[in-house]
Amino acid sequence: MIYNTRVYLAPMAGVADEVFRKIVSSYGRAIPFTEMISAKAMHYNDKKTAALLPSAEEGRMIVQLFGHEPGILAEAAEKVAPFATEININMGCPMPKIEGNGDGCALMKNPSLAGEIVTAVKKAVSLPVSVKFRMGIESETSPEFAKAMENAGADKIYIHGRTKEQLYSGKANLSAIRRVKESVKIPVVGNGDIFSAIDAENMLKETFVDEIMVGRGCLGNPFLFREIDHYFNTGELLPIATAEERIDVCKRHLLLAMEKKGEVRGILESRKHLAWYLKTIRGAAKIRNALFSSVNPDEVISMIDSLKEG
Ligand SMILES: Cc1cc2nc3c(=O)[nH]c(=O)nc-3n(C[C@H](O)[C@H](O)[C@H](O)COP(=O)(O)O)c2cc1C
Repeated sequence: MIYNTRVYLAPMAGVADEVFRKIVSSYGRAIPFTEMISAKAMHYNDKKTAALLPSAEEGRMIVQLFGHEPGILAEAAEKVAPFATEININMGCPMPKIEGNGDGCALMKNPSLAGEIVTAVKKAVSLPVSVKFRMGIESETSPEFAKAMENAGADKIYIHGRTKEQLYSGKANLSAIRRVKESVKIPVVGNGDIFSAIDAENMLKETFVDEIMVGRGCLGNPFLFREIDHYFNTGELLPIATAEERIDVCKRHLLLAMEKKGEVRGILESRKHLAWYLKTIRGAAKIRNALFSSVNPDEVISMIDSLKEG
């Protein structure tokens, strides 16, 4: 079966930054999001927050905002509009410091406030406005919540098939995603546990969603987008990436991070990605401690290169 379905790279704070988005873009046509951006921080013109917006080189993309005050979110949406193809509101983040503030998934407990936010942001910008949320807090409330967001004017829904209580445990509930799809007329994007091209197909077959979104499955494995693309276009599974390709992408990530962020910050902020790329590489465990204690570019690069000798 051939699928003509768009695939999104999930917003992932601290992970799916410009460097990783650039790496991903070389393996397929994944549609990127920014990391989540605080509407309140945009209100205060915080420089670090503004740095999360896409660079001129990257161009416009889906910009994700978080917050809980309709006026502040509308103002932030106006500010980020020149960088955006779509404004997405985060209503699914379960992190205590986000939820505790009334942001992220806390909005699922207050559908009328969530709706006011959508309506205010829609009024402020002439871009599509979408929402991203989970299946619920403790139990499933996402079909009714989705309907409320549609009624408030949302143009699209991104749904992760887990409750807040589950965080990342258990499996994404595809039936719950299907019930969201059945409850609204606007497009629905299915998200959760896509780790292979077959998982991507299952998401489509079991939920009937319009599009899909990949998060953790591409960490250390940006090749997943090429695998999904190829499978959706031809019905054939590509062989998984070779050790050599994984070592090469690891080095490319590091070089790009150093170029964008400076040598030391680039090395430090790449470490988690390097660990993911090298997870299955023979010999990587042995150099792990040395690799993750050096901030010397030549040393780090030569250790990565040495893995090719196997
Ligand atoms: C490290 C990390 C950071 C994340 N940051 C965000 C974020 O900024 N905004 C958001 O809406 N979701 C965020 N998420 C959730 C993902 O976008 C996605 O919904 C979730 O990981 C489920 O998809 P997956 O099973 O494909 O990983 C984050 C997830 C991870 C693992």
